[in-house]
Amino acid sequence: MEYIYLDNAATTKVDPRVNRAIEDYLEHCYGNPSSLHRMGRESSAAVEEARERVAELVGAGEHEIVFTSGGTEADNLAIKGVVGKNSGKHIITTSVEHPAVHNTCRYLEKQGYEVTYLPVDGHGMVREEDFIHAIREDTVLASIIYASNEIGTIEPIRELAAIAKENDVIFHTDAVQAVGKLEIDVKKIGIDLLSISGHKIHGPKGVGALYLADHVNIEPMMHGGGHENGIRSGTENVTCIIGLGVACEIEGREMDENVGKMKAMRDRLVNGIMDNVREVRLNGHPTKRLVNNANFSFKAVEGEALVLQLDGRGIGTSTGSACSSKELKPSRILTATGCEEVEAHSSLRLTLSRFNTMEEIDRTLEIIPDVVGYLRKMSPLWEE
Ligand SMILES: Cc1ncc(COP(=O)(O)O)c(C=O)c1O
Repeated sequence: MEYIYLDNAATTKVDPRVNRAIEDYLEHCYGNPSSLHRMGRESSAAVEEARERVAELVGAGEHEIVFTSGGTEADNLAIKGVVGKNSGKHIITTSVEHPAVHNTCRYLEKQGYEVTYLPVDGHGMVREEDFIHAIREDTVLASIIYASNEIGTIEPIRELAAIAKENDVIFHTDAVQAVGKLEIDVKKIGIDLLSISGHKIHGPKGVGALYLADHVNIEPMMHGGGHENGIRSGTENVTCIIGLGVACEIEGREMDENVGKMKAMRDRLVNGIMDNVREVRLNGHPTKRLVNNANFSFKAVEGEALVLQLDGRGIGTSTGSACSSKELKPSRILTATGCEEVEAHSSLRLTLSRFNTMEEIDRTLEIIPDVVGYLRKMSPLWEE
């Protein structure tokens, strides 16, 4: 059997249709979008078509989309950009953000900003009342993750955005994991800024976008030729932008079908593990969770050992977010949910995509109990 890839929160397979669009561009049109001649105009038209497609997926106007080098840059641009142009020294974020937001806020603390890191409940959910209480006269920005890359919990973004609006606080959300899995309409929800990444939605790596509502002013991070409306200078990464556009178009058009497929596979996986393995806990919210995320803690088993054993048996998984898997510290996200350090060390994240199949899930369900049993036999923490 082929390798079973269950690490789609880390990155996804590029959709062959995205590949074809990229190849077509590289072969036939390579002009600089800023050039006046025909080749330039063709490239510029391709970038604008991609912008429309990205905008459409999240309900934005196309002039409100800024292309970036990925989710990390979109988060940095949103947060540093807002505080650089708007007055107020206080930022609100959560204790369960991706490092792209968390470390940007940490950096701003060193620059003299005050940051409140909202706690979460045992499922990783932010409480509205905590957000309300944290808001101050000088709060300039709230940045709250749409859905967790690690435990899959979906935050109450509509309610939180409404609270921000009532209090004149600019609202940013990192929607890198939510895009394509959840219907998002930035206008209806009242989101001011939203981050997207190409490689999480079967597009290329190294490209992303920031939705920046008309009424929000931000300070650019990159200065140069004034591309992207002066917000992000630098010749556009046309190839990847085209790929991102096609990926967004597919995500939007096929969302219902793909979400249904992923949910059925995730439910089979979660139920299969919970029914067949003793002393296991599902991390994250039991129902308000991404359709492609399952995250477990297996008592007395080391997460990294589990990942390596599964890799040896042909299954790619992860212990937490890809960016933290090289650290030996327990997951900041799991500890924020109140998880004991030892439980956080025994976590396994399985994240699906539309390219997975039920056969792969069934095969995974045969292998995991076996591997967990094998590791427990060697574990000094396991008592039969
Ligand atoms: C929630 C979240 N935000 C931001 C990022 C960073 O995106 P990128 O890899 O495109 O920089 C990731 C990627 O892991 C993510 O999961």
